[in-house]
Amino acid sequence: MERTLKTIVIVGIVAIGISGILLSNALAGRSGRGIPDGQGDSDLEKPPVPMDENEKKILGILDDIRANQSYRNVPPQDGRFLRITAESMNAKNVIEIGTSTGYSGLWFGMALQKTGGKLTTYEIDAQRAAAARANFNRAGMADTITLVEGDAHEEVTKLKDPIDILFLDADKEGYIDYLTKLLPLIRPGGLIIAHNINPQMADPKYMEAITTNPNLETIVRSGVGLTLKKR
Ligand SMILES: C[S@@+](CC[C@H](N)C(=O)[O-])C[C@H]1O[C@@H](n2cnc3c(N)ncnc32)[C@H](O)[C@@H]1O
Repeated sequence: MERTLKTIVIVGIVAIGISGILLSNALAGRSGRGIPDGQGDSDLEKPPVPMDENEKKILGILDDIRANQSYRNVPPQDGRFLRITAESMNAKNVIEIGTSTGYSGLWFGMALQKTGGKLTTYEIDAQRAAAARANFNRAGMADTITLVEGDAHEEVTKLKDPIDILFLDADKEGYIDYLTKLLPLIRPGGLIIAHNINPQMADPKYMEAITTNPNLETIVRSGVGLTLKKR
């Protein structure tokens, strides 16, 4: 009887201990193996350090958009990723589908001011297009960023020049149409970056297209699909 009681107490203590570990891992957003999921790596990052007054001004506008005009904008770490990618590729022609209030566009703009490149960005909603236009103007990006107001499915058919980066961040079921229309224009070595690539939102037709084409190489990290058009 005494031994049974001891066993019950020991099993109870072990069970409470395991539940505690699982709960603390869940609250910390970590897997049971102690490996950070998704954004854990970005815990190692620090906020951007502006190199000059212009960068300081743009970072201030970006903070203001997030605080006061946010509408489904990418998180700051994705914005920084877009900037780093565009600047390091020396991108000259970037196409963005889904401007919203101009948050990701400004991250691209920071890179393109340095590379001498241009961003063309598409937005179907008039109110958000107006907010984005005002943000591009106050950031001094009028010569760097062109906003096209309208349905991107129709508007992108007017594009003719080679594209360094195509960034998809609009209607998820439309990604396959944007890819079909614009893949011929992506230069060899160019990138297609797609946002919201996760099991809940990714369109299976788009995923099939970017993962089975031998001319493309795709990885997905933290909801961002990165597809290289091979040379
Ligand atoms: C997720 S938000 C874009 C966020 C933006 N890239 C950012 O991070 O700041 C998606 C935007 O795509 C726009 N959109 C949806 N369908 C569109 C279409 N067919 N043509 C152009 N814009 C579209 C929506 O109105 C919305 O503002």
